[in-house]
Amino acid sequence: MTALNVGIIGLGNVGGGALEILRDNAASIEARLGFPLRVRAICSPSIGTTRAAAVQGLPADVIRTADWRVVVNDPEIQVIAELVGGTGVAAEIIAAAIAAGKSVVTANKALMAVRGVELWEQARAAGVSLSMEASVAGGIPIHAVLREGIAGDRIDALIGILNGTCNYILTEMERRGDSFEDVLAEAQALGYAEADPSADVDGLDARSKLALLAGLAFGTRVMPDDIHVEGIRRIRSIDFAYAHRLGHTVRLIGSAERDERGLLLSVQPALVPSDAILAHVQGAYNAVWVRGAYGQDTFYYGRGAGPTPTGVAVVSDLMRAAREIRNGGLAPASPFAHITLAEHAPRSTAEQVRRWYLRFRVTDQPGIIARLASVLAEANISIDAVLQLPGEAKDDLPFVITLEPTPAGQVAAAVAAMARLDFLVDAPLALPFESGLGTPR
Ligand SMILES: NC(=O)c1ccc[n+]([C@@H]2O[C@H](COP(=O)([O-])OP(=O)(O)OC[C@H]3O[C@@H](n4cnc5c(N)ncnc54)[C@H](OP(=O)(O)O)[C@@H]3O)[C@@H](O)[C@H]2O)c1
Repeated sequence: MTALNVGIIGLGNVGGGALEILRDNAASIEARLGFPLRVRAICSPSIGTTRAAAVQGLPADVIRTADWRVVVNDPEIQVIAELVGGTGVAAEIIAAAIAAGKSVVTANKALMAVRGVELWEQARAAGVSLSMEASVAGGIPIHAVLREGIAGDRIDALIGILNGTCNYILTEMERRGDSFEDVLAEAQALGYAEADPSADVDGLDARSKLALLAGLAFGTRVMPDDIHVEGIRRIRSIDFAYAHRLGHTVRLIGSAERDERGLLLSVQPALVPSDAILAHVQGAYNAVWVRGAYGQDTFYYGRGAGPTPTGVAVVSDLMRAAREIRNGGLAPASPFAHITLAEHAPRSTAEQVRRWYLRFRVTDQPGIIARLASVLAEANISIDAVLQLPGEAKDDLPFVITLEPTPAGQVAAAVAAMARLDFLVDAPLALPFESGLGTPR
């Protein structure tokens, strides 16, 4: 059978990984599809000078261009992979490809989280597909799971480790007892973290991913701004020591849970029980745990990033788009299930009741616990326990108070009031306990 032509725009980490797989795994891809996928054009601004491995070894007749319009307007190309990233030119490329009647595959969580619904509507109207498996959790096929694999279930909760950089930093801090700053600097030197790490360490990347997954899992339009977000910059190695003492560890957790009043959505560092499966996710790995009303617990684990793990997701999406085109009658399952469901609107996490860990750093003096306890009592918050590990400096003395279940808003107000106390070295750190995680019902 004749080949189906694809165009790859963006030849960086993900584009390079996808090209490598399309080249090296071509025979298997053809055997599975029943026809070859042929790379007809590749594009990046530096194409004339690039010595990228991905470009080497491609047949001489592959069109090489610095202008994405050449790819999008090529009548022979039926599927475009947008692997540029960002919300600028990538949006133009996708809109132009759809308008030209081409199916689109993208890895772009930042764009899909804010404009995906609109682009999907355009794709539907044009009778083409828009797939984005690589946009969330790189090598984990979580989109396919939610869209198809467990579409028959009704999902109650989705909780994940969605940012490999943060998980690498936290698990290295835990393993070695090093500071956030030292591990971040090392991660940057190793290429695990960007020179500007904000999108990762401030939780924004995980928030875009959670917006996409929650929309798909709960059939609701979720925008990043609907999600409460806190990053990991304030986590110190001492937090692991206290968490361990409490039978927990600390991870950046993206959480979407449904209750009778709506969806509670957050990305924040949280205490995770040491025996929970998520506590064992180490390094740059990602994981997603889903609890369904019928199928109950399922767990998905894999590399969250990297050229070839993410490249597999891109190539698999290209294959699905190619299959749909060759089989005629496009009826792709929506990557945004909001269209048919829309049952659960996001609501404020201020009302979310959880147990809390409050970590203080103080200049030691008499009466500190009594003054903190009185702020908590005034806020009608009950203390569960007070913990202090031995051997810390008197001018920067850490200790921890754990709280009985309390709404997040009430805790935030009490923390703001406590932050004004003169003996504190910095504002108290409040982390929720993630309860019931991965433990069978
Ligand atoms: N890296 C990962 O592991 C990973 C995982 C999951 C998802 N993603 C997502 O995948 C996408 C790509 O990420 P990446 O890490 O591969 O980025 P990257 O390494 O920075 O590569 C971006 C590529 O886009 C090209 N490009 C820039 N402007 C362009 C334009 N106007 N027209 C055509 N090409 C253009 C760049 O070309 P030049 O080099 O010539 O400038 C480069 O080849 C992003 O949306 C990212 O969020 C990445």
